[in-house]
Amino acid sequence: MVHSEQTWLTRESIAKTFGSASQSYDVSARLQRFSGKHLMPWLPKKNNLTVVDLGSGTGFFTDLLASSYERVIGLDISTQMLQFAKANRDKSIIWLEGDAHKLPLQDSSVDFIYSNLVIQWFDPLETAIKEMLRVLKPGGLIIFTTLVDGTLYELKSSWKQVDDDQHVIDFKTVNELNQLFNGPNSKLIEQKCQDIVLEYQNVIHLARELKGLGANHLAQKKNRGLSGKEKWFKMTEHYQDFLEPSGIYPATYKLFSGLVVKLNS
Ligand SMILES: C[S@@+](CC[C@H](N)C(=O)[O-])C[C@H]1O[C@@H](n2cnc3c(N)ncnc32)[C@H](O)[C@@H]1O
Repeated sequence: MVHSEQTWLTRESIAKTFGSASQSYDVSARLQRFSGKHLMPWLPKKNNLTVVDLGSGTGFFTDLLASSYERVIGLDISTQMLQFAKANRDKSIIWLEGDAHKLPLQDSSVDFIYSNLVIQWFDPLETAIKEMLRVLKPGGLIIFTTLVDGTLYELKSSWKQVDDDQHVIDFKTVNELNQLFNGPNSKLIEQKCQDIVLEYQNVIHLARELKGLGANHLAQKKNRGLSGKEKWFKMTEHYQDFLEPSGIYPATYKLFSGLVVKLNS
């Protein structure tokens, strides 16, 4: 039996991985586009607001926010993502390099935080939530999407039949998110969870999309026993159990959307 060897990701390695994806990201981010647009109905109607796009990536949604709000800040941990965004997006946007666990922003200075498919990388999430609540004004909002437990279950179970390594990151459960966002200083006032099934021509196509999304740091294991290539081949064989009649490979993403308010305390 191959023993599991968990490689915990440093924030620096997350920043690097996303950085190397910055050029390909905009063309491969089907899921991001869908989920980010999905949050639009929750956006405040007032315009004279200070907004932070937390984990702004290439700045696609920061740009949209800049067309509606007075002061928009795009904040990301990846220098390369920020460089790409700066060169391609609205010139009024303020770009900040920073870590969600230690936000370079003043207390009670932000009206709302928008964050699309980012918080699944935060560890510990508790610290990032504390920081978000610190920088929000009382009554301020966190409008976010993230992926929850059950995401990529086809890939996870196919790998499970090959070895015990962790190839897919652990996603929080809906229950855990409720516990984390409902506290003395905050309340999760709206939530929605839905399955998005994306289709792939083959598993290599799926792997390429995960890489384009910056999610390719899932497996960095030393190969023991079978070579990496053999393991990969075996995994793709097991993945065929999920094949649709049309020969398409499905991958399920469990998308959670939340609207959190900072309570006046
Ligand atoms: C999947 S991308 C989403 C980008 C963007 N929100 C969008 O919808 O297009 C995740 C982004 O989160 C950033 N990120 C990851 N961990 C972060 C952290 N601790 N602090 C700030 N940004 C982080 C990554 O650099 C990357 O740009």
